[in-house]
Amino acid sequence: MTEAAQSCQPVNMTLACKYLALDISSLFGFGSSLELQINDRNRFIAEGMEAGMYRTNIHMQYPLSKYLGVDAFLLPFLFSIKERYKTALRAMIADRLSVSKDAREDLFSFITGIKDPETGDEIGQNDLFAEAEFFLPAGGQTTSSAIAALFFYLAQNPECASRLIEEIRSTFTRGDQIKHSELATCPYPRACIDEALRMSPPAPGTLWREIPEDFQGQVIVDGHVIPSGTVVGVNIYAIHHNEEYLPNPSRFTPERFLLGSETENASGANKATQLAFSPFSIGTRGCIGKALAYMEISLVVAKTLWYFDFEKDPGSRTQMSPGTSKKEFIIRDQLIATHDGPYLVFRPSRKL
Ligand code: HEM
Repeated sequence: MTEAAQSCQPVNMTLACKYLALDISSLFGFGSSLELQINDRNRFIAEGMEAGMYRTNIHMQYPLSKYLGVDAFLLPFLFSIKERYKTALRAMIADRLSVSKDAREDLFSFITGIKDPETGDEIGQNDLFAEAEFFLPAGGQTTSSAIAALFFYLAQNPECASRLIEEIRSTFTRGDQIKHSELATCPYPRACIDEALRMSPPAPGTLWREIPEDFQGQVIVDGHVIPSGTVVGVNIYAIHHNEEYLPNPSRFTPERFLLGSETENASGANKATQLAFSPFSIGTRGCIGKALAYMEISLVVAKTLWYFDFEKDPGSRTQMSPGTSKKEFIIRDQLIATHDGPYLVFRPSRKL
């Protein structure tokens, strides 16, 4: 470890990215930041969200649990923190409602006044609450997970980090000139983001779908006719690690996402890779925030790598899959991935 690094505090990227992304999500949604990065007053909101995800995940995996009163008996702690979180969300909505629709440039200003096509009623407080309760973690927790994972893989793969840093620092002449429009034309940063999303997808689990009882057509999966009423799903982590589509799935290889890459020539797997890659899901219920997520992740990563050099904090755990030779960022499926670290030490870049 360098002397400069020794004098700096290690940063837990899980927490730093979570606070950043939730601040961005709240600013984007309601025009006011939760300010999690600069003070700890509202940080319980991040914990409340995680508790909510934990509970939702139990209900999703064991639907019967909803009717067995699991919330009240088995999860009293989660229940109380979630209630605190709900109160904070209501306060946030009330704050937004206290100013006019156009007072802030946020998502709220677009959805206020929209009428329900069936009832003709305007969107009410309960609808706003439901949207906020879903939107904040959907936008904040996922994006932060992707950024933390990417920093883990860059720290583990210095040759990839060097190439990425070189590409960013040679494309832009000043940090404040880094714009998404130009970043979007640089293939390597996007390939690194996609490879991190592949290896450690922020929504890693199975997104269940039920075939409606009155479905007229026939659903065939792998030669099997699936009867109506059956619940089916594909696990995103599993498909992203299927060797048939993705050779060496536990190796961080951004090149597999570069068109005309050696990977494509060697194995012809590039088309299959693109088809199997589905961190945002696909189809009509696929993620609506995909473009925003790419913009956020690429700007945060490019600006951080412009302004700072970084290295692993040797005093911290490495967040690798235990007991295997895999070099993967450990994520736990809690609807949205939960994790810890990586712990990194940053110092101002010599370019400044
Ligand atoms: C790396 C970042 C992200 C990932 C990996 C991700 C992943 C996903 C996935 C897998 C789904 C489908 C869930 C399901 O079928 O049950 C989804 C849906 C959704 N996401 Fe994202 N997401 C990300 C960022 C965002 C952002 C930034 C926003 C908001 C600004 C957002 C808002 C939504 C919404 C509203 C849905 C529900 C769409 C619907 O049901 O019609 N997501 N996302």
